[in-house]
Amino acid sequence: MPPAPDQSPFYITTPIYYVNDRPHIGHAYTTIVADCVARFMRASGRDVFFLTGTDEHAEKVVTSAAQRGLTPIEWADVNAAEFQKAFTEQRLTHDDFIRTTQQRHTSKVQAYIQNMLDSGDVYLGEYEGWYDPSQEEYVTESEAKQHEYKSPVTGRDLEKRKEHNYFFRLSAYADRLAAHIAQHPEFVEPEARRNEVLGRLKTGLQDVPISRRVREGDEAWGVLMPGDDQHRVYVWIDALFNYLSAVDTDDRRKYWPAQTHVIAKDILWFHAVIWPCMLMALGKDLPGSVYTHAYWVREGRKMSKSLGNFLDGPTIRGYVEAFSLDAWRWYMLTRGPLGATDADFVHANFVEVYNADLANGIGNAASRVANMIRKYFDGACPENTPREGDREWSVIARAHVERASECMAKTDTAGALHAGLSLSNEVDAYVNETAPFKLAKDPANLPEVGGILYRCAEALRIAAILVSPALITKSSAMLRNFSQPLPDSAGRFLDDAGSVIPLHELCAWGRLEPGTPVVKGEALFPRADPKDDPPAPIEDEDAPQ
Ligand code: ME8
Ligand code: MG
Repeated sequence: MPPAPDQSPFYITTPIYYVNDRPHIGHAYTTIVADCVARFMRASGRDVFFLTGTDEHAEKVVTSAAQRGLTPIEWADVNAAEFQKAFTEQRLTHDDFIRTTQQRHTSKVQAYIQNMLDSGDVYLGEYEGWYDPSQEEYVTESEAKQHEYKSPVTGRDLEKRKEHNYFFRLSAYADRLAAHIAQHPEFVEPEARRNEVLGRLKTGLQDVPISRRVREGDEAWGVLMPGDDQHRVYVWIDALFNYLSAVDTDDRRKYWPAQTHVIAKDILWFHAVIWPCMLMALGKDLPGSVYTHAYWVREGRKMSKSLGNFLDGPTIRGYVEAFSLDAWRWYMLTRGPLGATDADFVHANFVEVYNADLANGIGNAASRVANMIRKYFDGACPENTPREGDREWSVIARAHVERASECMAKTDTAGALHAGLSLSNEVDAYVNETAPFKLAKDPANLPEVGGILYRCAEALRIAAILVSPALITKSSAMLRNFSQPLPDSAGRFLDDAGSVIPLHELCAWGRLEPGTPVVKGEALFPRADPKDDPPAPIEDEDAPQ
């Protein structure tokens, strides 16, 4: 008996994105990574809750709205809708999209802060120091000096600010946080980021401002401090609480603590230090992991809205149109900046990966095997006739499934998907080695040829399931060609009664029945010409200006 599938809750989040501009590759990337993990966990039988959304109470929303003659909420509505549209277009499977302007969120923020006021973890004090308006962040004197009083991210001037503020007693939690990380190293991944956090914890933590004074022009923007209408909750504090407010309801409370917050390194400090310390102050459990990826860069510089050098929605749409959504996802998920190293988006590399992994890789293996089954066995899956000295296919397949599961549990989408690809590459190598197309010339060899092709088809069936969280359309095409059950739109494989067939069961060696109809179908990934120009961006006619 295989172990009972793990059906426990699995809560995964992305950052909530600023609505001062439109979505770009960075936002798409983090959300695709979370989407891939969410799909895999659903397929595994977990009770998944996947959250994304928008962070709306930033000062820069007030400024950019004013430039367009709009109120902040009008501009926020426009851009939140752009994010939702982009995520729907990319078939992302978030279970909720939270906006920090929603009452379900703002009311909870006030309750959390009230709770911390009551416990003394939040108190009134005075802040004097530097502020980075382009990043909405307070900057310490030493950090400001190090960057010549410019924003470390955008290079724009820092502002000097002096104001009464409410402070969070962060200093009280440094030791507890350090102890937690020592006991649960996976709390900050990857290791380079963990060391960064531990290094800063060693120098001690100072209390941090968590409010700002209401200024002229932004009276209506932000969550008021409970009991003090002269102060608003600092946008970062407001934003972090989204992870909790979204599931702080009777039917969703089971999802806390989150398993994984997926973020990039720009916002590590808030997620790996401020957030867990606030949760401790509130007496809440800490999330399992703050998974911190690096940046997509272009010619070595971070892409950002503020710098205006990003791969934006129209460019993404161009790639999806030219190469398929699956190919775009594959490239993001296997070649993106998952670990500590930035990834450079280079068109030639995109084409190379597309041809190697997809057109000549998994796509070719699938059509080759289906073609031989059609030719030698009239399109019916042959018997699994044993063959002297053959590979231990059931062991090989199980090892790949295990590897994919282990990697996905660590948000290593590249490792997990490579397990699927590598299983399909094993099939290719096996075909080359056993040469069923030569053996088939002598009818006496047909049982042996059948056995070889059965094992090829069975390994490809399992490979298709393993890559399905990335190749959401083409894996279904592959499975359909082998007359197999297909995943639903959220990535689950269901039986006739509508229950999830957990991935481990589905990937058990030998599930493919001899006699099953096999068709070749259309080429999954037509080869791309590396000499072609990058695809032209496709503008969205309805996009706001
Ligand atoms: O920081 N490469 O929102 P934001 C990879 N609202 N990922 C990138 C990227 C790049 N070049 N650029 C952006 C905020 N990202 C806050 C978050 S959360 C409680 C509040 C992704 O719109 C990456 O996930 O600036 C990064 O952390 C996030 O977008 C920042 O988005
Ligand atoms: Mg940013």
